[in-house]
Order: sequence, then structure tokens, then C-alpha cells
Amino acid sequence: MSTNIESHLVENRIFKPSKELSKKAHITSLAEYMELYRKSIINPEKFWAKQAGELLFWRKKWKTVLEWKEPFAKWFVGGKLNVSENCLDRHLTGATRNKAALIWEGEPGDKVTLTYQQLHREVCKFANVLKRNHIKKGDRVIIYMPMCPEAAIAMLACARIGAIHSVVFGGFSSESIKDRIKDCGARMVITADGGYRRGAIVPLKKNVDDALKDNEQIERVIVFRRANNEIHIKEGRDAWWHREMEYVDGNCPPELMDSEDPLYILYTSGSTGKPKGIMHTSAGYLLGTALTTKYVFDLKSEDIYWCTADIGWVTGHSYTVYGPLCNGATVLIYEGAPNWPEPDRLWELIEEYGVTLLYTAPTAIRAFIRWGDEYPNQHDLSSLRLLGTVGEPINPEAWMWYHTVIGGGRCPIVDTWWQTETGAIMITPLPGATPLKPGSATLPFFGIDAAVVDDQGEEVPPNVGGKLVVRKPWPSMLRTIWGDKQRYKKQYWSEVKGCYFTGDGARRDKDGYFWIVGRIDDVLNVAGHRLGTSEIESALVSHPCVAEAAVVGRPDEIKGQAVVAFVTLKEKEHPTPELREKLRQHVATAIGAIAKPDDIRFAEGLPKTRSGKIMRRLLKEIAGGGQVTGDTTTLEDFNVLAKLKGVHD
Ligand code: WTA
Repeated sequence: MSTNIESHLVENRIFKPSKELSKKAHITSLAEYMELYRKSIINPEKFWAKQAGELLFWRKKWKTVLEWKEPFAKWFVGGKLNVSENCLDRHLTGATRNKAALIWEGEPGDKVTLTYQQLHREVCKFANVLKRNHIKKGDRVIIYMPMCPEAAIAMLACARIGAIHSVVFGGFSSESIKDRIKDCGARMVITADGGYRRGAIVPLKKNVDDALKDNEQIERVIVFRRANNEIHIKEGRDAWWHREMEYVDGNCPPELMDSEDPLYILYTSGSTGKPKGIMHTSAGYLLGTALTTKYVFDLKSEDIYWCTADIGWVTGHSYTVYGPLCNGATVLIYEGAPNWPEPDRLWELIEEYGVTLLYTAPTAIRAFIRWGDEYPNQHDLSSLRLLGTVGEPINPEAWMWYHTVIGGGRCPIVDTWWQTETGAIMITPLPGATPLKPGSATLPFFGIDAAVVDDQGEEVPPNVGGKLVVRKPWPSMLRTIWGDKQRYKKQYWSEVKGCYFTGDGARRDKDGYFWIVGRIDDVLNVAGHRLGTSEIESALVSHPCVAEAAVVGRPDEIKGQAVVAFVTLKEKEHPTPELREKLRQHVATAIGAIAKPDDIRFAEGLPKTRSGKIMRRLLKEIAGGGQVTGDTTTLEDFNVLAKLKGVHD
């Protein structure tokens, strides 16, 4: 059986960068991008070395740019630097000293702004708190916090003394905390009493207490007071953040770190098996995030930059904390839900703070569409100049909505493809250079040798689907899975010879643009045709009644697999048998009869991970008529699953 994935969805719309935008951009034309890209691929080490010299502050220069013993990479070997020094101290000598580094708004509406000077001081003080509590270079520290400046302060303080942080998303349960503490061998947990979410208080400290029952390994829990909810303090183990800060001063020289010293571990759940502790190191990771922040968002010193991802995800690590701060940018952080108290909260924040760059996820965009245009339309969004997306393929119709309703037709959209493992953005438009096609992440970033290949590793012709791989190591790549080199090798470096395998399926069009068709595991095989899920979903979402769709296969005696679509409608629409038939026809027209869903099920919501990815694995089990047996610990809302089981019609 061929593993080539067929691709039928045609998207002809194209949006060229405006002349004014190109003129002021870091990269001003497609030709300039092409030339730089070509050079960066002919000699990646030369390219990365030049960037590392220009963008980062080194205490000692490296000796060797890359040591590559597949699948293990070492970048900038012999170099010394400190990530927190790069994100803070270097901005203290000029005007950025008094520039806002973090602007924060809590869900109830409380506000804090920290300048670079203030943030630096807080980080140094908290780094001293860590030291006071016997945390040293190489120790692992769990951070389980709400979205507040202290979460970033805790991360940067770890980086300052060389401790390895592992942030656990504040929406995860005590079980998840427990597993991660165990897996990474952490000595400390940093948490808060609680955090606000949709008007309620998430009992963070209580979850930590539950995770620490019978635990001897954690010596100290530091608790930031955020929500003033009642908590239990365990004598001898727990300490208040604000109390600890009274004992220390604001002077903490950065620890000299090797380029390859670990910076953090972040757990990501694959489609099967236990979560993997993705390990990133210092110099390469920082270079990847800083360089992409600069070019992909075409960052200017006056920007107010807002990435809505939680700090518990890699997007929050790379594009709320490390990338922007390394560039001396002003970053907005918001604690709560986008629809609290009303579905216009995001737009209100953009208006209030004059946000210029907005980076969010397709799942959020589809929710905004579903809630209705009246919410963004109530606000002045004219400060925005650039929009971004990440996390899933964006359906062309959702792209168009984002472009028109949020971007007022004037803001380019950077659809950025990357992964926890890649550390930084890999495939992306550059706003002043790349003509945009809705639904395509467009072209690879400098130094990234991305390709679509068959099982033998041969590049497939245009518009033929295959496996998305990266053929050369890059600085911000994961170095290993914590404690499991074998799994690292097997998972990423054995599927296609000599290549990093992403797990995603993709095709390139005749212009070389990348179109992600979904995870390879989700690809359907209908009567011998291999179809990516994302195209069928996009076809459904392009119907005016549809808000969101997820497509899975169901075993079928004749065709191998039948196409089952789960569809949520826009708020004002109603499910009817006629609509179901119309939608089937709509897919047939957009893609072809082969992709026409055999079954369409209307649902109020779709099962998603906490980071907003649709859990097709669960839908597959439901579509097949069976019980949901797989792991559901990463599911955001159990009610959705319960309701889905009842939606056979
Ligand atoms: C998917 C998030 C299409 C993809 C940074 C990838 C995307 C996985 C895009 C990684 C995009 C991310 N277009 N698909 N622009 N961005 N993905 O580790 O399947 O949470 O492999 O990292 O999300 O998800 P992760």
C-alpha cells in the first residue's frame, strides 16, 4: 500500500504583502527571502553562527557550531551564556531599561506592569529565594501557576541559576503533576493558592497537595498568593512567596551556563503512551525563539505583543517568555478565559492596551466565529498590524474571518507550523515577503530543511501528500526525551532514514508552499484513497452554517474506512436532516465524491485537549460504536464526551 496522501482541496486565494509593509519589514521581498533561505540551507552552520553572534549575548564564544552524531546534536559547543541575562540584563543599559516588559491583566481586571528593570529585580530576588531553598544548577523545579507575571519570573529565575524548570499547565490535574514530578525527579514545586478562570478559582495549591500525598521527593513548595482562597500550609515544606522575598536582595549574578546545559523539560502527550518530557537546552533554543520572534512577527520596538497561549504550553515558553524578552519586546499576559465576563474580553484587551501583534490558535478563532461578529465589532481593533496562528491547520474560511473581521483586511496572517519538539517556528510566512494563501503555513524558516517525503525518504512531487520531515538538525530542536534516549531515537529518528520525522502529513503545492493535512495517524484510507482529515474538515467549515468539524474513519467492510464527520454549528443554526445532506453535498463539491462523509453527526462540542487540539482518537472510538477506552486524562471537558456518546442522531 502506498502511503501517499491524496490532496484535493483547491485554494486559489492569494494575499500579497502591501508595499508599505514590505518597505519597513526586516525581509522586504520574496526574492530576498529565497536568496537568504538558499544560502542558509547550503551552509546552515555558517548561517546559525552569524545569527548567534548577532542576536545573543555570550560570556564566552563557542568553539564548534555543531557536533552532529545522529540523532544527537550539540550546538555552539564550548560557548557560555545565561538565558535570563539575555532576556533581562542586556536590556538594562539603554532606553529599554524603563520599557514595559510585561503588562498583565488578571481575569477580575486587576493590572500590573513591570519594566525590564523591575522584572530583572524580581527575577534576581526570586533566584535568590531558590538558592536560599537549596536549589542549584541542574535541579528540576515544577512550576504550576496561573497566567501571571510570577509564572514568567519563576521560569527566568530558574534559568538564572541553571535549574531546569518543568511547567505544568494550570488546568492539569493532580495526577498529571504527580507523574511529571516523578518522571523528572523534581525537588521543588512553585505554585499559587489559586488562579481565576471563568469567574471561579482554580484550587492550584490543593491540587499540588493531592499530588504530593506520600511524596518524599519534594522538599519545598513555594506558594504565590494570587486568589486569597483558603489553603493548607504544611509546616516545614510549604513557604509563601512574599515571605521568602523578604529575606533576599535583588542582586544575583547569572550562573555561567554551557550552550548545551538543559533549560527546561516540557511534557507533551503523544497520541499514545505516556507523556514525553521534551528537553530543550540553552543557547540553541534561545537562538531559535529569538530569531523567529524577530522575523516572523517582524518585531518593532514599539510593538505590544500578545500571544494568548498559556505559559504551560511550548507556545507560552517560546513566544510569551523567551523569544519576545530576548528581543526586548513588550508582552501582554492575560490570566483568564477569553469569554469572561463576555465573549468580547480579548477584543476589549486589544483595544485597551493597543495590542499590535496577536498570536492565537485556530481553535480559539473558530470559537470566536461561533460566538458571533458582534463581539469584535464592538471594539476598535485598529492598533493590530499583524495576526498569527499556531497549533492546528487553520481552515481557509476561519483564516478569511480572522483576516477580515479581526484584521480589518489590512493585517497579514502568519500561519506558523511547529511543535513542542522543534522549540521554535519552522514553517511560516514572513510578513513583508511571503504572499499568503489561506490555510497554508507557506515556506520554511531560514536554516530549516523541511520536506515532504515518501517512506523511502524521497521527496514527493508537487501536490502529492507524504510525511513531513526535517532533513538537517537545527539549533532549537529537542535534544532528547528526558530519561529515555531510546524512545527519542525511535519516535523521531527511525521512521524516515536520516530525517527528523514530525508525525505530520503534508503536501507542497507547485509554489513549494506547505499544506499540513493532519497527523499521519489520523489519515483515512477510503477505498484505497488516503485522505488527510484537515481538508475534509476545512471543506465543512467553509459552509456558512458550520463552526467546527472533526473527521475520523470508521471501519467499513467495503471501503476499508468510511468517513464520519462530527460537526458543531454556529450559535444560531439548527441541525436538520436537510442540512446534513447539504453538508455532504458541499464536501463532494469542494473536494470530490470520495471525501463525502458517510455519516455526519451534529454535536454541541468536540473533545479537545487542554491546548485546543481535537482528540480524534476518542471520536474514532465513538464513530466505531465502541466504548472510549483510551487515555482521557488530557481531555478538557468530560461533558462533551458524555454528550457525544448520545448524539447518534
Ligand atoms: C500541529 C504547538 C498545521 C501539528 C506549537 C504539530 C499545526 C502539532 C500548526 C504540534 C500549523 C502546529 N498548521 N498544524 N500552523 N502548528 N500544528 O507540540 O500537528 O502542541 O505536529 O506545538 O500541532 O503541537 P504542539
